[in-house]
Amino acid sequence: MKLFRSRTPQSKITVAKAAPGEPLIRMRDIVKIFKTDAGDFTALKGISIDFHESQFVSVIGKSGSGKSTLVNMITGIDRPTSGSVDIGDTSISNLSESEMARWRGLNLGIVFQFYQLLPMLSLIENVKLPMQLAEQYTPSERDDRAMELLTLVGLQDYAYKMPANVSGGQQQSAAIARAIANDPPLIVADEPTGNLDSRSAAMVFSLFDELVNQGKTIIMVTHDRHLAARARRTVRIHDGLVVDDGPSHEVIDLSDSKQPQPDLDAEETELLEHATPETA
Ligand SMILES: Nc1ncnc2c1ncn2[C@@H]1O[C@H](COP(=O)(O)OP(=O)(O)O)[C@@H](O)[C@H]1O
Ligand SMILES: [Mg+2]
Repeated sequence: MKLFRSRTPQSKITVAKAAPGEPLIRMRDIVKIFKTDAGDFTALKGISIDFHESQFVSVIGKSGSGKSTLVNMITGIDRPTSGSVDIGDTSISNLSESEMARWRGLNLGIVFQFYQLLPMLSLIENVKLPMQLAEQYTPSERDDRAMELLTLVGLQDYAYKMPANVSGGQQQSAAIARAIANDPPLIVADEPTGNLDSRSAAMVFSLFDELVNQGKTIIMVTHDRHLAARARRTVRIHDGLVVDDGPSHEVIDLSDSKQPQPDLDAEETELLEHATPETA
């Protein structure tokens, strides 16, 4: 029996790389229990799953099924009650908070539904921020790189605008540029198109496609089964368990797109169709 959990020492924080033939992310027996006033609530009931490098995976499931909780285990936004998450050769469940922050800075781009750009910084300043925080690149390289990334996402003419002065689609594009600022191998997106019109959603998706072609690994939680179906692999979560996992065209049935989405109940579909930032 091991008395101490092995920890990855500070100096060993590196860019995650899968060993040949091995998955990039290995989650084992993940249980997450939230303590609530009403008692313990088990949001994840023992999930073991692997994700390979350069894969584009969508995660679907009803609201409340545990999708965000699951991806929060990968981003380190939250920690499992039990079980392990290994990414490359780092056991991220064992990192301290400061190690986690450093690890995340190098390895992870996170994209959220509501963009989470800093409102008092221009788009280019938002994109430069992760490079400054992780002390990557020289100051002039940061300027050049931020502008290149904004150009990549079609925002070269908006670099000095404030987030409030551009559209939701443009804010999300800037958030994606920010997410890839440090060239992380892994991008985790939680409902990245949940607040976008279908045209902006399609644009965000094409950007992700392009990044996967460049070798990034993307895990995307989505309510949009048409977008989900365009990822190579789809994982369906139900009540804290993985109930379906395979090629997207096998997991998602698009044969009759007029039917209510299988992942959403009627009420939820209704809600999403009338979604505003407050209710989505
Ligand atoms: N911090 C928390 N405290 C208590 N319960 C939580 C917390 N976070 C999530 N939950 C519960 O866990 C379940 C899964 O939540 P979540 O992962 O956010 O679902 P999804 O992203 O699939 O909509 C839900 O029932 C939710 O209410
Ligand atoms: Mg969620």
